[in-house]
Amino acid sequence: MCGIVGAFLATGPVTPVLLDGLRVLEYRGYDSAGLALADGTSQGVRVIKSEGRIANLDNRLAETPLDFDAEDLCAGIGHTRWATHGPPSDVNAHPHGGTGTRLALVHNGIIENYTELKAELQSAGVTFRSDTDSEVLAHLIERALEEAGDLVEAVRSILGRLEGYYALAVLDRHGGRNQLVCARSGPPLALCSTPGGTYLASDILALVAHSNRVVFLDDGDIGRLQANGFEIWDKDGRPAERLATTVEFNSAEAGLGHWPHFMLKEIFEQPDVLARTAFGRIAASGDDVDFEDERLGGDTLADVQRVQVIACGTALHAGQIAAYLIEGLAGIPTDVDFASEFRYRSPCLVPGTLALCISQSGETADTLAAARLAVKHGARLVSICNVDGSSQVRESEGVVLTHAGPEIGVASTKAFTAQLVSAVLLAVRLGRSRESLSREDAAEVLSELRILRSKMGSLLTKEYVEDIKHLARSHMEQTGFLFLGRGVNFPVALEGALKLKEISYMHAEGYAAGEMKHGPIALIDSGMSVFVINAAGPLAGKVRANMEQVQARGGRVVCVGSDPESLTATEEALAVPETLEWLSPILNTIPLQLFAYHVARLRGCDIDKPRNLAKSVTVE
Ligand code: G6P
Repeated sequence: MCGIVGAFLATGPVTPVLLDGLRVLEYRGYDSAGLALADGTSQGVRVIKSEGRIANLDNRLAETPLDFDAEDLCAGIGHTRWATHGPPSDVNAHPHGGTGTRLALVHNGIIENYTELKAELQSAGVTFRSDTDSEVLAHLIERALEEAGDLVEAVRSILGRLEGYYALAVLDRHGGRNQLVCARSGPPLALCSTPGGTYLASDILALVAHSNRVVFLDDGDIGRLQANGFEIWDKDGRPAERLATTVEFNSAEAGLGHWPHFMLKEIFEQPDVLARTAFGRIAASGDDVDFEDERLGGDTLADVQRVQVIACGTALHAGQIAAYLIEGLAGIPTDVDFASEFRYRSPCLVPGTLALCISQSGETADTLAAARLAVKHGARLVSICNVDGSSQVRESEGVVLTHAGPEIGVASTKAFTAQLVSAVLLAVRLGRSRESLSREDAAEVLSELRILRSKMGSLLTKEYVEDIKHLARSHMEQTGFLFLGRGVNFPVALEGALKLKEISYMHAEGYAAGEMKHGPIALIDSGMSVFVINAAGPLAGKVRANMEQVQARGGRVVCVGSDPESLTATEEALAVPETLEWLSPILNTIPLQLFAYHVARLRGCDIDKPRNLAKSVTVE
């Protein structure tokens, strides 16, 4: 949410480097984009920005002759915005300057006490140009810089006055000298250095084009970039060494290739993601899971009495499925809560509680805050996360990394199924560690997990996808959608509805199939499409009965799953290969992702950048 980039090169021009970085980070917000460049001619900083997508900024740059030698442009910062304070507009776009032209600033986060700070600055004669909280930072730093002279000192001197959270970068040009400084408290900020220059970004995705060795700032850190490297100071002003993380993927993997959308590319990557996430962790004996390398060996999983799952959005749906798995396979009582709710509860966690936080990015503000609260109340923290080196990974005692690779589409797909695979592995390990799961049952789950890769592949064939496209075409005029599921497939129904509404803007609701008769049944008519997810297994008969209740009231039912009787009882169906009940969510999700994708495509929606959403929500 909001993307920040910055670069200090040995030789310019920096503009294309910043624009490439912003393009990679555009998924974090696309309300506006802007650059600030050290201007060799006027001895100040030049800001060029525009409301809307980066394409608008490109146009503005084309219209703005930079009347200084492009080769001089070695230092700059950039921003892509997800609006919090003030509507999307040119003036609210970052970077923001102070009263003069010597500096400009980009910010991700929220300054909660900005109204007081703004009033104080206004009474000292400062005129504000934007409605943002971030502009306050530019003025405060500008004033501090007049006294301190050194940008690191100026930034440090104002941080203590801020309430809220920030990742920020400031560019100053004065007396022929460029200074580029960044700071972080809350949202992520990473740095890397190469012989050609030094770079900063909110997300390692924007750094891998330069280096696969990146360093994350810790909370409270301040960094100074120069062309030949960077220095970091901790919150107490002491020089700090931060360990470098090696990024596993390369910049090509973060590209679109021949695909029309990242979402489609990522849906099709799922069989390989399953293999990467699961296969190397299945013990040679085939009846257990080996997490030894992931801080999950030893006693981290010993003596777990209760599990508290915490997550947001799609990751929460993975967490709800994880709860069924942990109770079903390991016999451990498990609760699930939205991170945004949990963080303000007074949780009564029993001794031996394992807080299981699930997050693609590892930077979701609510999930991080909820995790910290759980730890404060005595829980041990284990995370399922896709980004090594992220805040959540660094704060966790144990981690199961999902090897989904970079996920760019705002609507999460491959990260979700990788979270489900990880939850299966974790549930099996927990079950084996307390012997509540027999060796035979563990072996059955794990060998079926191996076979699942090819079963997933059967849902991605040309013919299968054509059937889904046809279904999408015939349902795109419906007034609404209901997704029903039971047991381990109830959260699949929630996820099916979420996928459809977030990218196609059609109204969709997910519901527990057995609960439908207590309300949503009133909505049923022929304009309402009802997707019933029904996997062969102990609950299939119950779900079939719920489906018949919809059919009896004229609802338009589409059955998704492997229950043969349900599939033949409906005119419209998407058959899914049979598997163990515990693994069925991994398969059942895929046709729902493809259905949402094709409805959105037919409706002409911006699939990878749905309106109002951001992929990584680093503000509350
Ligand atoms: C946002 C995204 C969702 C994602 C959720 C949690 O709302 O749009 O796709 O599921 O954040 O993100 P996380 O990175 O914690 O999984």
